[in-house]
Amino acid sequence: MNQPTVPRTVLVTGAGGGMCTGINSRLAADGHVVVCVDLSLDAAAAAKEKITGGGGRAFAFAADVTDEDSVARLLADVNREVGAVEVLINAAGVLDRKYLSELEVKAFRRALEVNLVGPFAMIRALAPGLVERGWGRIINISSIAGITGYPYPSYAASKAGLSNLTRSLLADFWGTGVTINSICPGVVDTPMVIQAVRDQVTRKVPTAKIIQPEEIGALVCFLMGEDAKNINGADLVIDGGATQLFQLFDRHLQDRPPAGTSG
Ligand SMILES: NC(=O)c1ccc[n+]([C@@H]2O[C@H](COP(=O)([O-])OP(=O)(O)OC[C@H]3O[C@@H](n4cnc5c(N)ncnc54)[C@H](O)[C@@H]3O)[C@@H](O)[C@H]2O)c1
Repeated sequence: MNQPTVPRTVLVTGAGGGMCTGINSRLAADGHVVVCVDLSLDAAAAAKEKITGGGGRAFAFAADVTDEDSVARLLADVNREVGAVEVLINAAGVLDRKYLSELEVKAFRRALEVNLVGPFAMIRALAPGLVERGWGRIINISSIAGITGYPYPSYAASKAGLSNLTRSLLADFWGTGVTINSICPGVVDTPMVIQAVRDQVTRKVPTAKIIQPEEIGALVCFLMGEDAKNINGADLVIDGGATQLFQLFDRHLQDRPPAGTSG
């Protein structure tokens, strides 16, 4: 029998971004309170209004996840105005489309700051409260670019770091009731994905489909539920099979008729 959904207070970083449209709406539909956090208050407020406009419950806060003081202020404000956070979704991220020759060390460092140090700072700040209450969920939005190599090294290295941070923190949350997992999406229908990549989806993704943000939201909600309590330290890949197929036979695949057709 399905367990009823327990309403939770969920803090989402990068809540104003493309993927979070699907995460926020799904959280709200399941009755959770969404604490929308983004760099600018405008972005967070727009996300909040979308939720409340649809009848959901949400709050908006501005914070820079790379700045420890900003994170500390955020959590003090959230504790005062909303209450205890039960679920953390680290979705804030940046993708710097630069190759080695054009990628300055400063820019490389910035990607690590946002995509890896930021989630660490958020987890570190929230962990004591989650552990004290004996229940918590931490969900890091990593990427398939952290599993395979990827031509944009700052993104790939930071996401690989995030996935391994996820696994490494298992020891700290041992027996506490807090689980920590990563979601590794492939190509999601968001402004972050350029047209050239969209054009490749039917040839490079075995499902031949771009992923909708709501599908990431559904996975987040599943991870928060009772049925997922023993999923811990996982990299949950949602990529239509893109990372599972050796692609050097690209030409062969291209000429191959889709299964079920006679052509
Ligand atoms: N879109 C995809 O196809 C895809 C695929 C795999 C993984 N991801 C990951 O999913 C997450 C969301 O992606 P998206 O497509 O929504 O990107 P997006 O650029 O639309 O959203 C990212 C959000 O993070 C916020 N942000 C950036 N730096 C921040 C900081 N220092 N502090 C607080 N907020 C900050 C931005 O303001 C923005 O609203 C990212 O971590 C991304 O790497 C995206």
